[in-house]
Amino acid sequence: MFEKDKFNKYLHTKWLGKEVIYEKEMDSTNTQAKKLGEEGAEEGLLLVTDIQTAGKGRRGRSWISPEGNCYVSILLRPEIDASKVSVITLIAALSVAKAVRGTAGLETWIKWPNDVITGGKKLCGILTEGSVSAEALKYMVVGIGINANQKEFEEGIESMATSIYLETEETVNRSRLIAELLNAFEEYYEIFLKTQDLTLLQDEYNSMLINRGKEVKIIEQDSESIFTAVGIDQDGGLIVKNEAGKTSTIIAGEVSVRGLYGYV
Ligand code: BTN
Repeated sequence: MFEKDKFNKYLHTKWLGKEVIYEKEMDSTNTQAKKLGEEGAEEGLLLVTDIQTAGKGRRGRSWISPEGNCYVSILLRPEIDASKVSVITLIAALSVAKAVRGTAGLETWIKWPNDVITGGKKLCGILTEGSVSAEALKYMVVGIGINANQKEFEEGIESMATSIYLETEETVNRSRLIAELLNAFEEYYEIFLKTQDLTLLQDEYNSMLINRGKEVKIIEQDSESIFTAVGIDQDGGLIVKNEAGKTSTIIAGEVSVRGLYGYV
């Protein structure tokens, strides 16, 4: 249940989340945000729901969305090259990590490029979708699902997913968490716009990168290779080093990254 008063009490943004559409149930906040984006809705619009009946995950997967968690989408109209859209996903991950730390006191990490991790398990999923016409970005939607008060996960997922409730044994106030998320996102997004890359945010991101200095398995379509993760570059690519010390950069979306002994 979204409490507008509580949300407004904690929201300190200049333009983000000043207009909110909340409905108890939606098919997907991203689907609805894209519809409103097409209709000309303004930058900063926030969509919130308690339950998604057709929640979307990355790579065409579905995102199971029971009641108790946070499901939000933010509508943006940045004047940037369409190729920069994926960088905003990393900014969203930084924002979730900061908001969860501030609201629930949990130690949070990021698994490149955009999974927020606590207690070695995934706490949040982010799906960024953009609409491009004639090479220009018309609008983009940043969809964020945070496992807030979920009490159990189905078999097969439980070894990889967790919630704030499971980590703290306390119910988190979702309206406050969403406000804190927006506070952080607006700040990081404005910093990003100055350079249109991660130059000014790279150090902060790298300090939270759970893979940093560790061996990672890079999974491509038909091959797997082991590297040591060094950190991200200013475009959000993951810099890795092979055994001989030679570095290369991995681009998000093209490969999967795993720890050597499990999910992170
Ligand atoms: C992932 O696969 O990790 C990304 C999951 C993204 C889920 C969020 S929940 C709010 C928004 N609406 C959707 O349909 N998906 C995103």
